Amino acid sequence: MVRNRPLWAPEEIDIERPSVARMYDYFLGGSHNFAADRELAEQARKVFPDAPHVVRANRAFLRRAVATLCDLGVRQFLDLGSGIPTVGNVHELAQRIDPGAHVVYVDSDPVAAAHATALLGERAHVHVLHADLRDPEAIVGEAARSGWLDFSRPVAVLIVSVLPFIPDEDDPAAIVAAYRDATAPGSYLAISHGTNDYQPEAVGKVEGVYTRTTQPGVFRSRAEVLALMPGYELLPPGLVDAIRWRPDPCDADLPDPLDGDVTRYSLLAAVGRHD
Ligand SMILES: C[S@@+](CC[C@H](N)C(=O)[O-])C[C@H]1O[C@@H](n2cnc3c(N)ncnc32)[C@H](O)[C@@H]1O
Repeated sequence: MVRNRPLWAPEEIDIERPSVARMYDYFLGGSHNFAADRELAEQARKVFPDAPHVVRANRAFLRRAVATLCDLGVRQFLDLGSGIPTVGNVHELAQRIDPGAHVVYVDSDPVAAAHATALLGERAHVHVLHADLRDPEAIVGEAARSGWLDFSRPVAVLIVSVLPFIPDEDDPAAIVAAYRDATAPGSYLAISHGTNDYQPEAVGKVEGVYTRTTQPGVFRSRAEVLALMPGYELLPPGLVDAIRWRPDPCDADLPDPLDGDVTRYSLLAAVGRHD
C-alpha cells in the first residue's frame, strides 16, 4: 500500500519498514511515526500489553539518572540512541540545572536524527549526530573535534534502552568499554535494558515481533546486562529494576504506573562511575 510521506520524513527512509525509534515514539504518544510503525507496535502490545507503561518508566529512569548526574556535578552528556525528541529531553533537564550544560544526541535512525536536528540543532550547547553508536571512535572523534564535548573532563554516557538493539555478535560490552576508555576518570554511564528474567515467554514473542523492524532487539538476563558495564563502579542501589532505581515519588509523570510489579516492567537500570 502506498502511504503519504509527511514533509518531516527524510527521502531515503522506507516508511513501510517499521523502525524501533518510531515505534517507541508511538508508545510515548508522539506523532513522528507511520502506519507501519503503529501496526507493528500494536502487535508488540498484543504480546506484551504493558509496553506503553514500560517506555514511560524508562523515560522516568532517564530523568532521575540525569538529575542525579547533575547533582554529582556532571555537565556533559553523550546520549547514545537518544530517539525522537519527546517531552523531557536530556538537555532540558540538564540545562534547567545549569544552562551551560552540554548535550550531544546520537541516533542511527534518520527520522530521530532529522527531527532532533530540526528541533534542537539551534539550542546553545546542544548538538545532534546521525551516527551508529557501534563506531565509538567516529562519534567521540566528531564530538571532540567539533568542540561539543571536552573529553578531558567527566562526561556522562547515556545508553538508555538501546543496548537491546546491539546483538551479542557486535560485542556490546566492548563498545561500552570503548566509550569508558574515551572518557576521563570520574565519568559515568547510565543504562537501562529489558530483561528476560521474569517473563521469558512474553518477551520472546516481543523479540519475534521486533525481527520485522529495522533493528531487531534482544532482552537479556540481569547477569548479561551487568556484564555490559565492565570497569564501572555502580552507584547505589546497583543494577536493579528500573522503577526501584532511586524512585522519585514527586515525579508527576507516573514513574510507576504498574504499582510496583517489577515483573511486568521487565526493565533493569543502573548508573556507574569509572575512575
Ligand atoms: C527504545 S529507543 C530509546 C530512546 C531513548 N534512549 C530513551 O530511552 O528514551 C532506542 C533508540 O536507539 C536507537 N538505536 C538503536 N540502535 C542504534 C545504534 N546502533 N546506534 C545509534 N542509535 C541506535 C534507535 O534508533 C532508537 O531511537
